[in-house]
Amino acid sequence: MAKTTAAITAVGAYLPDFVLTNQLLETMVDTTDEWITTRTGIKERRILKEEGKGTSFLAIKAAEDLIEKRGLNVEEIDMVLMATATPDMPVAATAAYVASEIGAINAFSYDLQAACSSFLYGMSTAASYIASGRYQKILLIGADKMSSIIDYTDRTTCIIFGDGGGAVLFEANDEGLGLQDEYLRTDGGGRQFLKIDAGGSILPPSEETIRKKQHFVFQDGKSVFKFAVSNMADVSAKIMERNQLTHEDVNWLVPHQANKRIIDATANRMGLDESKVMMNIHRYGNTTSATLPLLLHDYEKQLKKGDNIIFAAFGGGFTWGSIYLKWAYNS
Ligand code: UT7
Repeated sequence: MAKTTAAITAVGAYLPDFVLTNQLLETMVDTTDEWITTRTGIKERRILKEEGKGTSFLAIKAAEDLIEKRGLNVEEIDMVLMATATPDMPVAATAAYVASEIGAINAFSYDLQAACSSFLYGMSTAASYIASGRYQKILLIGADKMSSIIDYTDRTTCIIFGDGGGAVLFEANDEGLGLQDEYLRTDGGGRQFLKIDAGGSILPPSEETIRKKQHFVFQDGKSVFKFAVSNMADVSAKIMERNQLTHEDVNWLVPHQANKRIIDATANRMGLDESKVMMNIHRYGNTTSATLPLLLHDYEKQLKKGDNIIFAAFGGGFTWGSIYLKWAYNS
C-alpha cells in the first residue's frame, strides 16, 4: 500500500490596509529609503492599526479567505494549528479563539511558537498528524501582529517587520505529493541575539521593564545576519543533496523574508535563478509566521501540480530548517 503523504490543498491570506512606507519611516526615525532598500530589500509593510484587534483578527481573516476560496465545510476541520510569535494573550491559546470564531466546532487547536520558523515547524507538525492517519483536515495558520512588539523609535528593528496572516489546508494525498522531507534545527545559544527580554517567566512585567523598553524586540542584527546566511543556505543545500535534487529539479524556493541579502545567498548556494525564488519582502517586510503562507498565496497561480518546492526559514531561538514539498494542485 502506498504511504500516505500530507499535501497543501488550499491557501488563504490577509493583509491589513495601512501601508507603512520607507518614506513614512524617514519621518519617524533617523533612516533613509536608500539605506533600507539596499540593506534589506524592503520598500513597505502593512500595519494593523485598529485598536483592540490582535493577531487573531489577522488569522481569522486569512482562514476565512481560504474557506471561501475552497468552499470548505468548516465542521470537517479536525485541527487548527496557529503558528505565531505574537499571540493575542500570553495565556489562552489564540488558536482556540480563532477555531471558534470560524466555526470549526469539531477541531482541537493550539499555538506553536518558534519565532520566524513557526510556520515551517507548523508544516512539519500538521503533516505528521495527517500522515499518521489520525486526522484528515488540518488548518495551519501563520499570523503575527509584529507591530505590537516593535519599538517605533528603534531604527534597527522598526524598519524590518510588518503584520499579516496566511493559512494553508493540509490533507492526505495518495499520489505521493505533499511533504517529502524535512531538516529542522535549533541552537539555544542564539537567544541572546534576538529576543524580548521581559514579560516571560524570567523577567515578569514591572514598571522598570517598561521604562527600559524590555517588552520590545531586541536584535543584534549583524550576528543574526551571519547565522541566518550560513544556516539557511546550509539546510537548503542539505535537503537538495539528501533528495538528489539538482537546481534544475527545484521549481521554487520559498524562503523566509528577513533580508533580501539572506535570500539571495541561499538561492546562490542552491544554484537557483532568481526567477525561481518567491519574494514579497519589498511589499510586506518580515511578517514572521505569516511570511511563508503569504508567499504561497502571492504565487499560487504560478504553481503547478508536481512542482518541487523547497521551504527555508531562520528565526529567534535560534530555530531554522528546510522542507521539501511537492505541490498538489493546479489553480
Ligand atoms: O527574521 C528573523 C531573523 N532576522 C534576520 O535574519 C535579520 C538579520 N539581520 C539583518 O537583516 C541586518 O543585520 C539588518 C538589516 C538588521 C541591519 O543591516 P546591517 O547591514 O547588518 O547593518 P548594521 O547593523 O551592521 O549597521 C550598519 C550601520 C550602523 O551604523 P555605524 O555603526 O556603521 O555608524 C547602524 O547604526 O547602519 C546603521 N543603521 C541604520 N542606518 C540607517 C542601523 N539601522 C539603520 C537604519 N537606517 N534603519
